[in-house]
Amino acid sequence: MTIPTFDTHGVAIPKLGFGTSRMGDKSALDAYGGLVANALKLGYRHIDTAWKYFTEKAVGDGIRASGVPRDEIFLTTKVSHEYLRADDLARMVDESLTNLKLDYVDLLLVHWPSPEKVPLAETMAALAKARREGKAKNLGVANFNIAMIEDAIRLCPEPIVNVQVEYHPYLDQTKLLAAVRRLGLAMTAYCPLGRGRIIDDPVVGEIARAKGKTVAQVVLRWHLQQPNVIPIPRSSNPGRQAENLDIFDFTLSDDEMKRIHALARPDGRIANPAGRAPDWD
Ligand SMILES: NC(=O)c1ccc[n+]([C@@H]2O[C@H](COP(=O)([O-])OP(=O)(O)OC[C@H]3O[C@@H](n4cnc5c(N)ncnc54)[C@H](OP(=O)(O)O)[C@@H]3O)[C@@H](O)[C@H]2O)c1
Repeated sequence: MTIPTFDTHGVAIPKLGFGTSRMGDKSALDAYGGLVANALKLGYRHIDTAWKYFTEKAVGDGIRASGVPRDEIFLTTKVSHEYLRADDLARMVDESLTNLKLDYVDLLLVHWPSPEKVPLAETMAALAKARREGKAKNLGVANFNIAMIEDAIRLCPEPIVNVQVEYHPYLDQTKLLAAVRRLGLAMTAYCPLGRGRIIDDPVVGEIARAKGKTVAQVVLRWHLQQPNVIPIPRSSNPGRQAENLDIFDFTLSDDEMKRIHALARPDGRIANPAGRAPDWD
C-alpha cells in the first residue's frame, strides 16, 4: 500500500504520518522504538518527532530497525521555543541529528513561537542555514497564527513549506486552512484524534457504523479528504497503528464531511499553553 502524497514546493509529503509525543519513561521509549519500526513495517512513511518529546533516539533506532531505506521516509523534528536564537538553534539541530544518529531530517519546524520575543528574522535565518547546510531538506513552523506564518515566509531566505497545528473535528481551523491553501503550504494536523477525545463521539460513531469502519478511521479519513491536510495520529498500540493506516478503501460523502465539520466547538482546543500560545485565528 502506497500512501498518497501532498506535493508542494517540490517536496512530496505522505498524506498520513505517525506521531511520537508523550511517551514517558525509558522503558516506554524502548517500546516506542519498536513501535516506530512497526509503523514503518506496516507502511507509514512519515514520522513526526521533536527534541522536546525525548523520542528522537527511539525514532532513529526505530528507523534503522525497520529496514526501510532512509530515503523512503519523511522525517520531521522540531526546535523547541527556548532555542530560537541563531546559535542555540544551530546547536539544537546538531543535537537532534545526534539523537537520531542521522545526517538530515526531511522537515525542520520551529515548535512554538518565541515567548522571549527572539526576532523572527534571526530564527528564520538560522532555520534557512540548516537547510543550506543539508541538515534539513525542508522548513516549516508549528503553532504560528496566520500573521506569524506570513512573517515567517517573508523573513525566511529559504522556502517555508509546512505549518503544523492542532486540528480535529472539535476545532474549527477554517481561517487558517484558507491561508495555508492561499500560501501553498502543507498543514500537518496534530492531535488529529483530539488526543482520543473524539473516539466516543456519537455523530462520528453513527457514520463509522454505516461505513463498517471505526471512529478513528472516519476521523482520519475526514482529514485525508481535505486538501493540504496531513494527520499525524499517535498510537502505542500495534493494532491501532494498523487501524489508523487502513483508511484508503472508503470515502466520506460531502454530507458526512459536513456533519463532522459541524462538531467544531468553541472550547475544542487542547494545546494552549499560557505564555507560549499566540493569539489564535
Ligand atoms: N507541534 C506540536 O505542538 C504538537 C502538539 C501535540 C502533538 N503533536 C504531534 O502530533 C502527534 C499526534 O497528537 P497526539 O499524540 O497528541 O494525539 P492524537 O494522535 O490525536 O491521539 C493520541 C491518542 O489517541 C489514542 N488512539 C490512537 N489511535 C486510536 C484508535 N484507532 N482508537 C482509539 N484510540 C486511539 C492513543 O492511544 P493508544 O496509544 O493507546 O492507541 C492516544 O491516547 C503527536 O504524537 C506529536 O507527534 C505536535
